[in-house]
Amino acid sequence: MSAPAQAHDSAAASLDPARLSAGRRESFHLRIDRYWSDLSEAIGVLYADFEIAERLTESLLVRAASAYADRADDLHRLDQERLLQPGWLQQPRMFGYACYADRFGGSLLGLTEHLDYLEELGVTYLHLMPLLQPREGDNDGGYAVQDYHAVRSDLGTVDDLRDLATTLRSRGISLVVDLVLNHVAREHEWAVAARSGDPIHRDYFHIFPDRRLPDAYEQTLPEVFPAFAPGNFTYEPELDGWVWTTFNEWQWDLNWSNPAVLIEFVEIILWLANLGVEVLRLDAIAFLWKRMGSSCQNQPEVHAITQVIRAITRIVAPAVAFKAEAIVAPRDLVQYLGTGTHAGRVSDLAYHNSLMVQTWSMLATQSAVLGREALTALPPVPSTGTWITYVRCHDDIGWAIDDHDAAAVGVTGEGHRRFLADWYAGDAPGSWSDGLVFQANPITGDRRISGTAASLAGLHDSSPPAVVDAALGRIFLAHAIAAAWGGIPVVWSGDELGQPNDLGWMGEEGHEEDNRWAHRPRLDWTRAAQRHDIHTVTGRVFSGLARIARVRSSLPQLHASAPSQILPDTDIGVLATLRRHPSGLFVGLFNVTERSRPFPFGLIQALGLSRPYEALSGYDLQVGADGILRLPPYGAWWLVERPDIKSPAWAAS
Ligand code: GLC
Repeated sequence: MSAPAQAHDSAAASLDPARLSAGRRESFHLRIDRYWSDLSEAIGVLYADFEIAERLTESLLVRAASAYADRADDLHRLDQERLLQPGWLQQPRMFGYACYADRFGGSLLGLTEHLDYLEELGVTYLHLMPLLQPREGDNDGGYAVQDYHAVRSDLGTVDDLRDLATTLRSRGISLVVDLVLNHVAREHEWAVAARSGDPIHRDYFHIFPDRRLPDAYEQTLPEVFPAFAPGNFTYEPELDGWVWTTFNEWQWDLNWSNPAVLIEFVEIILWLANLGVEVLRLDAIAFLWKRMGSSCQNQPEVHAITQVIRAITRIVAPAVAFKAEAIVAPRDLVQYLGTGTHAGRVSDLAYHNSLMVQTWSMLATQSAVLGREALTALPPVPSTGTWITYVRCHDDIGWAIDDHDAAAVGVTGEGHRRFLADWYAGDAPGSWSDGLVFQANPITGDRRISGTAASLAGLHDSSPPAVVDAALGRIFLAHAIAAAWGGIPVVWSGDELGQPNDLGWMGEEGHEEDNRWAHRPRLDWTRAAQRHDIHTVTGRVFSGLARIARVRSSLPQLHASAPSQILPDTDIGVLATLRRHPSGLFVGLFNVTERSRPFPFGLIQALGLSRPYEALSGYDLQVGADGILRLPPYGAWWLVERPDIKSPAWAAS
């Protein structure tokens, strides 16, 4: 369905022929036609009133045209490149890293001095944690934005951000930044205006004169921060009412049923796109739409909102991709990559929270049985989207174990969640973990866990060699699973050096109550200096992770379009995955136990690998006379067909 003439007309007025060539103007109109149905259908879902929908569409297109006219030539070129390669995020060369700019390199400028380091690790996708101006004092690690058009003053300026994006792009690294769209800081000008009585801005938020509706909503609302921010509403004397605050009391939830909020965010998105940001992380996207009687997460309108902002962004800046941060139950996850009418129309990436949880669960239980069940039960991923796979991130780990999956393997969800919390808090007999309990909820029994990969895996530089080896094995195995699953693996800063929890986490202002700071350490550059010495623990972790990135980028089999299937009925301690890509077959074998485990060689051959070769180590498989392979403790094998076809000399360049 092409867009009606009126839509083209409203945009055309902003496409000044004196500034834009005929070809460039034509591209814009082609894109309006291409994305018209995405846009209009989703707006229709959100705003049933025809006039409101029409006015909104027009005003979005006018803004889109003016952002398009402002877009720099090099970014238009990037748009062309991406349109020629729509699957760019799915390529095996994609390898991510996430950090706070200040904790990694001091500032945006300081960070640019460490780009060789990131390249050495194999990074092509850099997620910088919130960097727009937050409120002063505690701001939830930057997730309470006061000004979306300013960069955090201690990090640099807007020009620095644009320069950084350009420099990264020139090195083949895509810049990812957070778009916090569920809430703004209490100090944001919209909230200030609302408090001063401005009715237009009051309508940007969910404000209630008394407890009647908040109490009714609370019946079905979970609490995100039960320990330091119980409840979901905050009384504000200046409003003479209660404002919706899902997270902290100074993070005010926005009213996305108000089209004005959508327009504001479209402007912010296009502004960031024009600075050269390539991926927007849609923070806390699950919470955007509120519905009485529900958990107010994962409502269908959330996907319609994403579809609107995605369509507009594609019209202006098709190079920009969206990543959904929806840490939700396993069965609710895949919708964020676009299912049903939203297929191909929402986010390109979403966090594979379930894979992360199952990885830690398999390591703690030394059994792949539940992991197999849970990962097999997940619905297939739409071909246009893929996962962010990770071992841990800047947030705590919530034990998202589905009750049905647990029951299917003979345990209870509640019991297993309790076990995992105990294990990773270091409280269960035999536990090697040093995690910290985050947000214990006495009512639900929920206990989430904070910790760096090293601390969760029990790595201590001073431990006896066998203990260090086991911990390194777990770290390497977890990253090898993430990097082989399908999608973009993202390493959280410090994990590539095996950095432990920062025990001084509570010493910084505003961090006192939030132990997630224990796993957001400043990068230890003294430690980093040892990364080339493979006799050090640091050197072993760094070289191991860099090898994973390097080998991954050399294997076309790991293109994200080939999903992982779980092989059933393998040894209890082995997670076995299969990926079928036209370029060849991939079999992943992951021993989640601290003992060696058997795997029949014949099965690998039966799957279609006639001369299996282990790509991570670069060795052929050694099989005993009994035809059984023995995976070493925590062994991670990436099996492909032996690559013995030599490239001709002329192809080497
Ligand atoms: C996301 C962030 C988390 C933050 C929350 C509120 O879940 O990852 O760190 O606390 O949103 O913005």
